[in-house]
Amino acid sequence: MLHLSVIATRLLAIVILIAAAAGASAFAPGTEAEIRERIAPFGQLRVQATDEEDEGEVVAQREPRDAEAIYDQFCGTCHIGGIAGAPRMTAEAWEPRIAEGMEALYATTFNGRGAMPPRGTCFDCTDEELIKTVDWMVESVQ
Ligand code: HEC
Repeated sequence: MLHLSVIATRLLAIVILIAAAAGASAFAPGTEAEIRERIAPFGQLRVQATDEEDEGEVVAQREPRDAEAIYDQFCGTCHIGGIAGAPRMTAEAWEPRIAEGMEALYATTFNGRGAMPPRGTCFDCTDEELIKTVDWMVESVQ
């Protein structure tokens, strides 16, 4: 009889261990994907820029703007009329500058020079957008 009760006690211990293990797995952290899903933010910010609202501080995943639209809104202010010595949109005005190489033109656009303000005043423009705009300006005077 004593022998049987020892076996019963051992069986009971095993059952308790299995139950504890099963219970513990219910609180397991889960896979990395499951954790990410649980702690993910409620929504994702997506700002759609429009011509009027372009001045906004938030630049998050908006669609890249078209070079001509950037030129019209920012660069043309000086470059159409040649304000403050800005090269007008003519081949003569641009030839010597183009001869310096596109990298030089991009560098002036990013950093400014003389009366040319840094980023041509388009502070929420990405580098890619500015490069596209310079390319567009150069192409349209050739
Ligand atoms: C406030 C007036 C002004 C605005 C706005 C402006 N520019 Fe200019 N830009 C100038 C002036 C002035 C120069 C001549 C600078 C010099 O060579 O000293 C110039 C020169 C340039 C050059 C020639 C740089 C070189 O190295 O020869 C590029 C390219 C250019 N601007 C691009 C742009 C772009 C792109 C924008 C708009 C995103 C823009 N500019 C907006 C005034 C302006």
